[in-house]
Parts: sequence; structure tokens; C-alpha cells
Amino acid sequence: MEINNLKVDVGGIKLQNPVLTASGTFGYGSEFSDYVNLHRLGGIIVKGISMEPRAGNPPPRIVETSSGMLNAIGLENVGAEKFKSEKMPFLRETGASIIVNILGDTVDEYRELACFLNDVDGLSGIEVNISCPNVKKGGVAFGTDPVMVKEVTAAVKKSTDLPVIIKLSPNVTDITNTAKAAEESGADAVSLINTLIGMAIDHRSRKPKLANIIGGLSGPAIKPIALRMVWQVAKTVKIPVIGIGGIMCAEDAIEFLIAGATAVQVGTANFVNPGTCEEIIAGISQYIEDMNYSNVSELIGSLEI
Ligand SMILES: Cc1cc2nc3c(=O)[nH]c(=O)nc-3n(C[C@H](O)[C@H](O)[C@H](O)COP(=O)(O)O)c2cc1C
Repeated sequence: MEINNLKVDVGGIKLQNPVLTASGTFGYGSEFSDYVNLHRLGGIIVKGISMEPRAGNPPPRIVETSSGMLNAIGLENVGAEKFKSEKMPFLRETGASIIVNILGDTVDEYRELACFLNDVDGLSGIEVNISCPNVKKGGVAFGTDPVMVKEVTAAVKKSTDLPVIIKLSPNVTDITNTAKAAEESGADAVSLINTLIGMAIDHRSRKPKLANIIGGLSGPAIKPIALRMVWQVAKTVKIPVIGIGGIMCAEDAIEFLIAGATAVQVGTANFVNPGTCEEIIAGISQYIEDMNYSNVSELIGSLEI
């Protein structure tokens, strides 16, 4: 579905349309290939990888809530080597822009990963997860402290020629502080939001529903918060913003673009309907036609106050 008026440039990453899959909700692409025309997607952001493989947290790791889901996967992944040798060959063939999401326990691990990925053919960019609430070390600790955000961003930027997206945590008082820190250290774009920290209790057993006790809340419940944060950050930084959080349909995605996002990511919705991204792409295209816009860029940041 290459439609000329849907093309966007996100900090040097050229996308055929502004709809990406959110990390951790679309596996490594192949898991969805029977249900989704992968080459039609604006891009695929793959499950976060670390230098070494990780088993993640013990089950239960996912709980459904009244308006979204709570997860505590704990960043289970195949590790950098296997990603390169087993996952990339398939991803390269999809024709979609491939963005790899990375995570580490230390600044050095982020640096090492960025270096390693620089030589992997077929990648369009790196998204740096400094915002996972489900791990003990690294993760959210990096994403809530502007000083650490600067350090990680600068280390990754120095280690790769690929465009770098910093994925921000909503678990802060003022998200514009971490967004500014990422921009000042050379980030090419920011993406937001990752999940909000939540909890679910089984009132019969009086036990937490997640083995990890707390987890990350995603889905429709977080959309108003995400939209507010995207709007605040888009007003504050000059680099492109990618909007994430509770996007379930084209109207949701359009609202994020109006708030100032150059592109969007779809997460939880992929579990409900794997065809969501394709429906959103078609819906944005229809909206542009209905509004007589010549290009999706006319929609971006068009909020009227
Ligand atoms: C099961 C699950 C696993 C996730 N794993 C990752 C991950 O590995 N790296 C990451 O940056 N974000 C991860 N996320 C966060 C999503 O990419 C996204 O930021 C979040 O779910 C909000 O979007 P949504 O409301 O559309 O799901 C995960 C989310 C879910 C639900």
C-alpha cells in the first residue's frame, strides 16, 4: 500500500506511511505474516533485544483489565546474535522499514548493541527502550532521569550511523524534561509512551494476578494520557515525535497526528485484531482524501486551540 501522500520522514527514517508496529506486540514480524501484508506497513518495530538472550519473568505475565492489558513479560528475547542470524533474513524480505528496539542493564550494553547492529544489513533505525517498567535493572531507571537519558542517548548515537529514536517513559512527573534531554544529546526522534505501571489483584485469593506483582498498562486506558504527553512533547522539541498508546483504530491514530506526532505505533490492538495496522493505514488515507489534503504532513500538528 504505497500511497505517495502518506510518506513521512521520521528523523531520517523514510516510511511509506506513518503506521508502525509497537515493540513487543508484533514479535519479530514472522509471527504475524499469515495475517498481515507486512510490506504494506509503514514499518515494523521488533521485540526489544538485549546483547544476551533473556527468559523474561515467570508466568502469569499478562492480565486483561477493563480497558487494556497489564503485562510483565520482562523483556524475553532471543539476543543480538540470534536476531541477526535468525530473525533479520526474514525481516529484510518483508520490504517494510525495520526498526530494532534495544535494551540494556548498563550504558555499556546499549553502546555495545548499537555497535553490533550498525553492521546488520537492512535496518532503518534503532529505537532505544529506556522505559520498560518490568525489569529490575536498567529499563525504567534510565528513562526517568534526564541525566541518564542524556548518557544513554549520547552513547548510542556515538556507536551507530543509524537514526536513533529514544522511547520515553510516561512514569515521570514532566515528560518534556526527558524529551529535551534526548534531543540535546542528539536523538533523531522520540517515541512515547511506553506502558504505565499498574497492578491487578484477584480478590478471591487476595494475590496479585501477575507473578511480577506489578506490570505495564497498555491499551485504550492509556490513550488520553499518551495523547496529552505527545502534544506536550511535540510543542517542546524540534525532532519528530512518534505517538504510541491505546491506538485501536484510524481515528485514534489521526488524533495523535493532529497532536503533533509524525508517525504512530500500534501495540495492544495487534492482539485484538492483527489487521489493525492495515485498517489504520486505509483510514488515514481516506481521511486525507475527505479533507482534501495533498499530504499527510498537513495533518501533523494541525491541532486548533
Ligand atoms: C506484551 C507487551 C510487550 C511489550 N514489550 C516491549 C518491548 O520489548 N520494548 C518496548 O520498548 N516496549 C514494549 N512494550 C510497550 C509497547 O511497545 C507500547 O509502548 C505500549 O504497549 C503502549 O502502546 P499500546 O497501548 O498501543 O499497546 C510492550 C507492550 C506489551 C503489551
